[in-house]
Order: sequence, then C-alpha cells, then structure tokens
Amino acid sequence: MALNDNHHVIAVSDSAALANSAAERVLARIAASDNRVAICLTGGSSPKQLYQLLATDPWRNRIPWQRVHWFIGDERFVAADDPLNNMGMARRIFLDRCAPAANIHPIPTDSADPEQAARRYESELQSFYGAEALDPVRPLFDLVLMGVGPDGHTASLFPDYPAIEESKRWAVGVPKAHVEPFVPRVTLTLPALNSCREMLFEVAGPDKRAILTRVLGGENLPANRARSIGETNWLVDTAALPENFRGR
Ligand code: 6PG
Repeated sequence: MALNDNHHVIAVSDSAALANSAAERVLARIAASDNRVAICLTGGSSPKQLYQLLATDPWRNRIPWQRVHWFIGDERFVAADDPLNNMGMARRIFLDRCAPAANIHPIPTDSADPEQAARRYESELQSFYGAEALDPVRPLFDLVLMGVGPDGHTASLFPDYPAIEESKRWAVGVPKAHVEPFVPRVTLTLPALNSCREMLFEVAGPDKRAILTRVLGGENLPANRARSIGETNWLVDTAALPENFRGR
C-alpha cells in the first residue's frame, strides 16, 4: 500500500513471513548491482529472524559474499563480545560464518568514548564511500535496515535529542539512551542513513502497533524522519498493523 510514490507499507501475515520478505529484498538489492554492495544492518530483536534466515543454505548460497559489505546503523557502547552489542549479534548469527572479515564494518566500541567511536566510524564510512561529502545521486548504502522503538526512535536517534537534528556529521555519540538498554550509543545520523537506495523497516508484534499508528499517521518522530532518498518500505506483520491499514 503506497503512502506516497516512494514510501510503502507492505503487510505480511507474521514474523516468519516478514523475515522471508526482508530476505527477498536483501537479495533483490544485491542483484540490482554488479559491483560492491553496501548494506547497513540494524540492532534490536526485530532483524534476528532475517539474520538467521540469511545463514541458512538456500539463502546463503544466493549471496555473492565477496562483494557485499555490512555496516551497522547504531551501536550500544559496550564491548564487541557483549550480548548487547548490535554488530556482535549479527556476527554471531550470520556474518562470521558467511562474510569475509574485511567486509564486516563494526562501530569500534574499544574507543575512549562514544564520540571518538563515532568519529572513527565516520572516517571509515567516508573512506569506503571515497568522499567526505554525500552526493545525492550516489547513495552511501544500497540498503539500510531499520527498526522502530516504543518512543518512535530509530537507530539511536531518540525524540528531541540533538542527534536527530544533525545535518553534517555522518555519525555521532549519544551519551545517554532514552529507552533500554540504558547504555551510551553511537548512531549514524539522518544524512548518512537516508543516503541509500532503499530503507527497509521491519516491524512485528502487537507491542509495536501503537507506535506504528503514530509514525504512519505522520507524527514528527525520528522513525518518520528517516527516509531514503530512494524508496522507503515498511514491512509490517498483521499484529503490528494499525487499524486504519487493515483490509486496504
Ligand atoms: C538498538 C536499535 C534500535 C532498534 C529499535 C527496535 O540498538 O536498540 O538499533 O533502534 O532497532 O529499538 O528494537 P526492537 O527490534 O528490539 O524492537
């Protein structure tokens, strides 16, 4: 269902169907390019089923791992092997088994503080991109995966925090989180996240319905300001789908 020309809600039955549809979109994005592909992953619990699926042979065998690079949209400022570490979760579930080590780009949480980690990651992104300024006709990422939190945050861009207004930096430190887990964060900013061919939100379960109703209703929340310069898709399961989107 189209919210506008490049903003769509795709309703699926349940979380298994959601992971399957997300995996198809990952594969389609990779297939759309003959060159190096950059995918920005997300943390939280929403993408876990997708990551598990990508590690299974039918999917794993369809991915040209040598030319796909994996980044992360935000990180909890904890050690790489801490169970809360977002990239650590993706590595344990699929990346370490499937991707060449040089193609995995974690946010360096061994830095002195989140701000220094953000600056190091910004440099890494700029060197991968080959420029210090983003060109709207050449997106940084082919695909950015996203989730939405109960307060309408996405990545670690929390409502009314300064990071959401950042217009120049590609990544910033966030000293204090607005929701659990209450650890400092590092987040990519809107200019960097939005610089993608496709942004794909995954939203599942009844607990997400209230916030999704507000976001899709157009409220000024971070999850609503994260918009690809290409297309933005919301993959939503039945339990999370707002009332006014049912039966459309
Ligand atoms: C994080 C995330 C965050 C997450 C949302 C949704 O580090 O927590 O990157 O933005 O995507 O909070 O989280 P769930 O998928 O766990 O609901």
